[in-house]
Parts: sequence; structure tokens; C-alpha cells
Amino acid sequence: MSVAPIVELIRADIVAGRDPGPDFTRRFDEHFPRLAEEFLTVYGDRPDSLLQLRALAEDLATCWAERPQALKELDSQREAQPDWFLSHDMVGAMAYVDRWAGDLQGVREQIGYLKDLGITYLHLMPLFAVPEPENDGGYAISSYRDVRPDLGTTDDLTALAADLREAGISLCLDLVFNHTANNHPWAQQAVRGISPYDQYYWIFPDRTMPDAYEATVREIFPDNHPGAFVPLKDASGEPDGRWIWATFHDYQWDLRYENPEVFRAMAREMLAIAAMGVEVMRMDAVAFIWKQLGTPCESLPQVHRLLRAFNAICRIAAPAVVFKSEAIVHPDEVVSYISPEECQLGYNPLQMALTWEGLATTRPTLLAQALERRHALPAGTNWVDYVRSHDDIGWTFADEDAAELGINGYDHRRFLNRWYTGRHEGSWARGVPFQENPRTGDCRISGTTASLLGLEQGDEHALARIRLAYGIAMLTGGIPLVYLGDEVGQLNDPSDPAVAHDTRWVHRPRRPADRYLEAGYPTSEAGQVFQAITSLIDLRHEHAELGGNELGTFDAHNDHVLGFTRGPLLVLANFAPRAQHIASDVFSARAATETDLLTGREVEVGEGLWLNPYDLLVLNG
Ligand code: GLC
Ligand code: GLC
Repeated sequence: MSVAPIVELIRADIVAGRDPGPDFTRRFDEHFPRLAEEFLTVYGDRPDSLLQLRALAEDLATCWAERPQALKELDSQREAQPDWFLSHDMVGAMAYVDRWAGDLQGVREQIGYLKDLGITYLHLMPLFAVPEPENDGGYAISSYRDVRPDLGTTDDLTALAADLREAGISLCLDLVFNHTANNHPWAQQAVRGISPYDQYYWIFPDRTMPDAYEATVREIFPDNHPGAFVPLKDASGEPDGRWIWATFHDYQWDLRYENPEVFRAMAREMLAIAAMGVEVMRMDAVAFIWKQLGTPCESLPQVHRLLRAFNAICRIAAPAVVFKSEAIVHPDEVVSYISPEECQLGYNPLQMALTWEGLATTRPTLLAQALERRHALPAGTNWVDYVRSHDDIGWTFADEDAAELGINGYDHRRFLNRWYTGRHEGSWARGVPFQENPRTGDCRISGTTASLLGLEQGDEHALARIRLAYGIAMLTGGIPLVYLGDEVGQLNDPSDPAVAHDTRWVHRPRRPADRYLEAGYPTSEAGQVFQAITSLIDLRHEHAELGGNELGTFDAHNDHVLGFTRGPLLVLANFAPRAQHIASDVFSARAATETDLLTGREVEVGEGLWLNPYDLLVLNG
């Protein structure tokens, strides 16, 4: 089907009829055909698809008319420099507003600190209205437009975004678009059977369809409920016989994207969030938005089409906005989300997991393999590289990659879980299991960087390990992300009662005020971690070669040492607790004397090179 005649008709109505201005018209002409194509490929069979598409175009014109002038200026800037997020100056940070700074005003007061640290991108964890007490750390949203009252108001958020922008920091917020909270007005009306909301969720009258779907889907939060569906309850709290799709917790209900009206409703919410000054949208739980009987209901082709449609919507009505995909899935699928037309940025869960893997085994061979074959990305896109996030650490490497190196994926994951929960002999880690599933043997890991790398246990190499782990995230390219608190070596905090049923709270502790104070003293523990991480951030800012994503492999001929090049710079990292030697001929193509940029030390490689335990060198020759 050619979409051209349809696009023409809608254009006549929306563009010619409403005169939304030259910028909108130009962007409409450039991107609406692509939007129409994706939209109609997914929804074309439905009788209302053209009306929905027309209504969507109208929504775009309305949202553009309401978009604040300051953001329209940013739109033009970003259009003139579309690859701004590839710059070596990009260094990210993430935090829970309440835990790290109290409220939005508290974050505003920290802008100076963030600037000094060298941060240019700030991901604030979900801060919109949620049900209490359970809301999955904000990922169960009851309104996409109202800020959680204890954090501030929507005006506070808009003001904060403007101040951050002024300070050269791009605000990133989540678009939690796979599900809403069960108390969102849409959900409340859906359970009461009120049109059109009765078509917004996956509600079934009995177990027939739930059983059929569950035959092929994964359990995501088995501690909370088995399978993908939960029973609906009547006013007295008794199950009423109906079942609703809830991939995550029982109070997070999956939206029914099969219905184009749901897509359109979420597009409006997305543009409303964009209008608050958000520059990066973290596309939460992307893989799950499309369901199809007989499939795993993850990463189906329609997911990509709808993401490209959302992307085209931003190009037309909020072009400063870019997407970051949160797909913690098989590495082949992770990259399938990253392209200029889909998500320009994507988390790099493989590099994250393999950094931990290399530290546990002392052999970064899987990481080297990943850098060699899974690091490249399409032009105009970038990784977001992290050591840890607010979520658990899962072992998402490909079994087939591991098999090539003689590693059995299943056994290896069991080893890694034992190592990081401290159950393995010799382990320096103090992690906590997350969603341990005795039936499948699956388990993931909770813990802060410092606790997982030996600082809590008082291991002599903890500091060097933290420096190395952050070094990998900072030096391989992408946008590196600091979990705020990690830069001062914050430890696990199991004291919060919320931890009891969701161990991820162990590594989402409150602001460690004492450690931030201590960080001012360079010889203190916090001060040493702070020095290590800030010197890496400073290096990123000083060297343009560290931006973008291009990376060369470098074989150090030592299984414990990871080597890679960024332009003329050579990074060497020793993953073992013993000194390692690199033979001189490995350096034959490089200068005999090089400078380690992290310490300023001159290094002679003519006689080969000894690396201290967990040493990290950035050589420039
Ligand atoms: C994402 C979030 C995670 C949350 C889930 C459900 O994976 O990172 O914290 O539990 O989505 O929204
Ligand atoms: C959240 C969970 C993670 C799960 C993922 C799926 O990030 O924490 O374990 O695999 O969602 O997207």
C-alpha cells in the first residue's frame, strides 16, 4: 500500500488548514510519511486506522503550538548538531530525587556539584505520581503529568530542567510506556468496563487466554507472581474471575498497543513530558510492548515499528528529544533497538555484565570478544555505558559467544551468582540475590559498586577494582553513567524495610552525607574513590578521542589483561589480583616511551611492561 495519497490528504487538513509554521511543515514533510508507513503497517487492518492517524497528526500540530519557545530554540540547535550526544564531553549521572537530594529543589541545589563533577546528562528516576506504598520505585505511574507531591510540582520540574539546560546538563526522564499503575485513571475505568478504556489493557474473563499466552512468555518478577497475568479483584478484594496482563508487579498493568488509540494516548503523554524540558527519554521495558499469541511476547517486529513511529513523532513535534532504549535482553536484540530512526542511544548491558564477569574470573576474554564483535553501532547512535544502575545485574551474554571460548553459559551464570553473593570461596563481593528462582535456577545480583567490589569487606584491592570498572565504562566510548553515590564509594544499605521483598533497594540507598564530606579529604576511603572516578571524568573531557564509539582491539597476549585503542590512545587493564607482564614485542608498533594519562607517569615499554594488580593505564605515545 502506498501511503502517499493518505499523507497528502492529512497534510492538506493539518498543514495547509491550520498553518502550524514553517519549521513544523518542513519536519512534517520530512518525517510524517515514515510515521504513516509504520503506523499503517501495524494498524492498517483496523477500520479506524486512518481516522486515528489523522487524529495523531492533529495532536502533533497542537503539541507543537504549545511547545515552549526556549525548547523550540533547543530544537533548532539540536537539528543543526544532531550528533551532540556522541561528544566526549558527555558524562552522565543518575539518581533518585528523594534519596539523593530530598526533592526537586534539592536537586537544583546540587547543580553546582554536578557541574564541578563534569556531568552533562542527568537521569532522574521516575518522579511522577504513583500509588503508595508500592510503586516499583516510581515505575508504576498514576499520572504522566503530575509530579509526585513530596518531590515538588510540575513547575518545579520545568524550572529544574531549565536550570540544568543552562548549566549544560541534559535532563533524562523515563517514558514508562509498557504499563501504568493500577490506579491510573485509564486503569480505574478499564476495570469498570468504561469505554474506551476497557480496550486499553489486556483483560480476560477467565484463564483460557492467559494460559495460552503464558505457555510461551518469560517470568520477569517471579517473587511477585508467577506467569504474566494477575487476577482482578472486586471491591471487597476478592478475585472476580477476570485476569489482567502484568509483566512486572501485580499493580503494573500492561497497555494494549494493539489498540491504536493507546499508542496515540501515550504519544500525547510523551510530548507532554518533552514539553517539561526533557531531552533524553529512557524508553522503559521496550521489549514488552507488543504481545502475540504463541511467541515470547518480547522484541516482536511491531515493537520496532512503534518505536520508529514514536521517534518520528518527536522529530516532528519535539526534535530536541532523543530516545534511550532499555532492553536488557540477548545482545543481538539489544542492538536491534539502536538506530537513528529508533533509539539513538541504548544501554549496554553486555559490557556492564562482562566487566563484572571479567573481575570475578580475572580473565576479561568475554569482554574482549564483546568489544571486538558487539561494540560497533550504526552512525549517529551511541551506547550508554554503565557499571551498575538502579536495577539488578543480570548475566545477559550470549551462550553461543561463551561456548566459543569453552564456557558453558548455564554453569557460568551459577558461578557468577555465587561469586557476587559472596557464597563462593575467596569472593570479595557482598551482593544480595535478586529474584532467585529455584525452579529455573535463574538469579540476578543486587549491590552497590563498592560493596560488590570488595570495599565493604575491606579487601585490599577494592579501590583499584572500582577504578578499573569505572574506567571500562568511561573509556570504551558511549555516554558513561555514574550512579550518584558510587563516586564516593557508597556501600549497600539493607536497613530499609522495602528491601525485604525487593533487594534492589539495597543498592538504592539514601544520600551518604558523611561520605560526601569525607570525599573532600583525598586520603580518606571516600576521597580515594572520588579521586579515581573524577580523574576518569576529567580525562574524558580532555580527550576528544574518548567520545563517539570507535574502538580498536589490542591483543596484549596475556589472558588477564584487556587492551583496546581509542585513536592513538592505548588502554590496558589488568583484571587479576596479581601483577601481569606484557611482552615488549606487543608494543612494536608504538613509541618506546609513552605517558600514562591517568597518572602522568612516563612508561618505558621497550623492555615490556608490568601492570600492578587491577592496574588501569591510558597510554599516549
Ligand atoms: C525497568 C526498570 C525497572 C522496573 C521495570 C518495570 O526495567 O528499570 O526498575 O522494575 O522497568 O517498569
Ligand atoms: C528490569 C529487571 C531485569 C529484567 C528487565 C527486563 O530491568 O530488573 O532483571 O530483565 O527489567 O527489561
